[in-house]
Amino acid sequence: MKIKKSEFITSATKKEDYPIEVLPEVAFVGRSNVGKSSLINMLLNRKKLAKTSSTPGKTRLINFFSIDDKFRFVDLPGYGYAKVSKVQKEKWDKYISDYLKYREYLLSIFVLVDSRMPPTSLDIKMIDMVKELGYEVNIILTKVDKIKNNQLSKMKKILIKDYEIKKENIVECSSLKRIGKYDFWDHLNDIFEKNSIEVRMERQ
Ligand code: GTP
Ligand code: MG
Repeated sequence: MKIKKSEFITSATKKEDYPIEVLPEVAFVGRSNVGKSSLINMLLNRKKLAKTSSTPGKTRLINFFSIDDKFRFVDLPGYGYAKVSKVQKEKWDKYISDYLKYREYLLSIFVLVDSRMPPTSLDIKMIDMVKELGYEVNIILTKVDKIKNNQLSKMKKILIKDYEIKKENIVECSSLKRIGKYDFWDHLNDIFEKNSIEVRMERQ
């Protein structure tokens, strides 16, 4: 299936405001500025569906996007943005963790990690949380246009060896250079199949 329609559905902070229509959801989490919103745009061949910014802290709510009324992408606020108050940070962290903990339609979680540096303590905390909640950890290494191939191999080794991520669950991406789209859709198709969801996406 080629994407015919991708649309913004709603923004929410608390669970009462999440969409009620039963559809599987794929969530994107990661440090502020790591490239979550840009990735969603790249994957959906849209320029400005999810709002992006060069300054961290752009996405402040949980944003839901529907793809051909078959499944949803969920763009979450980033964590670890230093320039906001502790109270604000705690609020965002609660939006994220409540969503991940309580969302019954959540099918799969992608943790975005900047390919230029080893996972930060907050990335590790997120990876642990995903595992504790019983989800498989899928990693997207972002901004690979900014690093050399040997650095990228090193990063992948660290993730596999030190954080026990499965090799096949790591996708390398660059939204700038449009790298990783095919790998992502192939991987998501595998996830759909494993969960007996009858959706099969073409390479977009
Ligand atoms: P928050 O909403 O603040 O949590 O950030 P985010 O994770 O959604 O990041 P966003 O997509 O807004 O991108 C942050 C910055 O990184 C923007 O300036 C993007 O242009 C840039 N960026 C995103 N993806 C890439 C990429 O693949 N390569 C490069 N070089 N820059 C990127
Ligand atoms: Mg964002």
